[in-house]
Amino acid sequence: MPSFIKALALLASLSTTFAAPSRYANHQASTTTTAAAQASTDLCGTADYIILDSSPWIVYNMLYNADVTVGTQCTVYDSMSTASDGTKSVKWDSVANIEYVESTNNVPKGYSFVGLTQNLENTVNAISSIPTSYNWTRTNTTTFKGNICYDFMTNDVSGDSTSSDSQELMLWLQYEGGQLPIGWGTPTATIDSLFGTSWKLYQGVNTDTGITVSSLLPDTQFDGSFEGDLKDWLLALVNLNVFAATTYVNVGNAGTEFFYGDSIMNATLALQIDLA
Ligand SMILES: *[C@@H]1O[C@H](CO)[C@@H](O)[C@H](O)[C@H]1NC(C)=O
Ligand SMILES: *[C@@H]1O[C@H](CO)[C@@H](O)[C@H](O)[C@H]1NC(C)=O
Ligand SMILES: *[C@@H]1O[C@H](CO)[C@@H](O)[C@H](O)[C@H]1NC(C)=O
Repeated sequence: MPSFIKALALLASLSTTFAAPSRYANHQASTTTTAAAQASTDLCGTADYIILDSSPWIVYNMLYNADVTVGTQCTVYDSMSTASDGTKSVKWDSVANIEYVESTNNVPKGYSFVGLTQNLENTVNAISSIPTSYNWTRTNTTTFKGNICYDFMTNDVSGDSTSSDSQELMLWLQYEGGQLPIGWGTPTATIDSLFGTSWKLYQGVNTDTGITVSSLLPDTQFDGSFEGDLKDWLLALVNLNVFAATTYVNVGNAGTEFFYGDSIMNATLALQIDLA
């Protein structure tokens, strides 16, 4: 099993907001779609994914709390394209039809994302840049609770994203329906200027995994479009002593978390790690 898959299997065990029931442990990858032509694919099982050929990406429908999900959730791989400057992008969708259930309304049901498969397990220092562009639209026909975010994991040990000294880093771009980060309350730090806005850092331990989650929430939410070099995010966290620049970036992805609601997210993403 490639290490980025193992790392993502672990990511499935991370609830990225308030602690969720530990019901994800027995999920299996029920489908691996690697058709030669790589046609558009609907990924609707609890751990369905497609590794995109000739790209740095895996597209993943990760329903780590499928057991408490009433409804369906699919991640759709649509297509890839290459711009004239060589930048690749992937067009994908996340389609949630999840009922509101009072007792689990605060439990994230899963994470639909495009994850990196290349140039992971390098230190922050060894990375020259992480250029990204994320464009999305959300069309919901009921109240929707969830977000649009990046989620990275670091550790001072290359490839380790399971031990409790791993760090989970979230950059929230947009969130709605009352979603709150782990450690919500008094921010542990503020960042005055990053990606054109100011941010608040919330930190807390995910009691399911023992891993500290550091979430940056923008003072002004992004409304369908984000562009930047994510190395600036990592360096801002180095500056706040969350970790050192000698730490390893072991997991990186962009996606959407969902709690409930009938909602379609259509997105186009460019994301890659360039090494120094
Ligand atoms: C979509 O979700 C948002 C956030 O929960 C909500 O404010 C809005 O009313 C929803 N739209 C519809 C059509 O239900
Ligand atoms: C949005 O996603 C839905 C579900 O995959 C798809 O049917 C629709 O064509 C997409 N719309 C756009 C504009 O890409
Ligand atoms: C996002 O939209 C901007 C503005 O239209 C465009 O320049 C950029 O290439 C788009 N990004 C992707 C990944 O399609």
